[in-house]
Amino acid sequence: MASKKVSHSQVVMSSLMLPQHANTSGNVHGGEIMKLMDSAAAVVARRHARSNVVTARVDELRFLHPCHIGDVVTCYGKLTFVGRSSMEVLVTVEVENPQIEAPPKVALTGYFTMVAIDENGRPKKVPELIVETPEEKKRYEEREKIYRQRKKELAEAKKSRT
Ligand SMILES: CC(C)(COP(=O)(O)OP(=O)(O)OC[C@H]1O[C@@H](n2cnc3c(N)ncnc32)[C@H](O)[C@@H]1OP(=O)(O)O)[C@@H](O)C(=O)NCCC(=O)NCCS
Repeated sequence: MASKKVSHSQVVMSSLMLPQHANTSGNVHGGEIMKLMDSAAAVVARRHARSNVVTARVDELRFLHPCHIGDVVTCYGKLTFVGRSSMEVLVTVEVENPQIEAPPKVALTGYFTMVAIDENGRPKKVPELIVETPEEKKRYEEREKIYRQRKKELAEAKKSRT
C-alpha cells in the first residue's frame, strides 16, 4: 500500500449560505457548518483511503466568527495524522461576504477523526501519510502524541465496559 502526501487528499469546498441554513435573525446554525466540515473531512479521508469512512470523533471544535445568510463559507480540509485505520483531518472554515471587498475571516476550526471501514463496517488499514513541510511535520508530531494518549483512554474505557 503506497504512502500518500497530505496534498494528495486536501480539499477546498465553498457553499453559499441560504435562508434555510439560518435562524430568523439571519445567523447560520452551527450545526449547518459542522455538517459542511464533516463532509469536507469525509472527502479528504475517502481520497486518502480510497474506501468508505465514518466519523469517529470531533475535537477542539471552535466557533470564532459568525456566518450569515448571503455569506460564502469555505472549508479547507487536510490530514494532520494517520494511524492504522484512523485519519485525523483539520478543517478550517473561512467566511466572507462576497459583495464586500474584504479578506475572509476564520469562522471555525476543528479536528475530525475518520475511520476507514470495509464492507462489513470493520476498520481497515489505510496508506501511511507523507508529511513534507515543517508545519506538516510539527503538527503530525503533536497530533500523534494525542492519538497515542487517546488509544490508552479508549482501551481503558473498553476494558471497563467488559
Ligand atoms: C469508528 C468505528 C468503526 C471504530 O470501531 P472499533 O470497534 O472501536 O474499532 P477499533 O477499536 O479497532 O478502532 C479503529 C480505529 O478507530 C480509532 N477510534 C475508535 N474510536 C475512536 C474514538 N472515539 N475517537 C478516536 N479514535 C477512535 C482507533 O483509535 C483506531 O485507530 P487506528 O486503527 O488508527 O489505531 C466504530 O466505533 C463505529 O462504527 N462508530 C460509529 C461511526 C458512525 O456511525 N459515525 C457517524 C456516521 S458517519
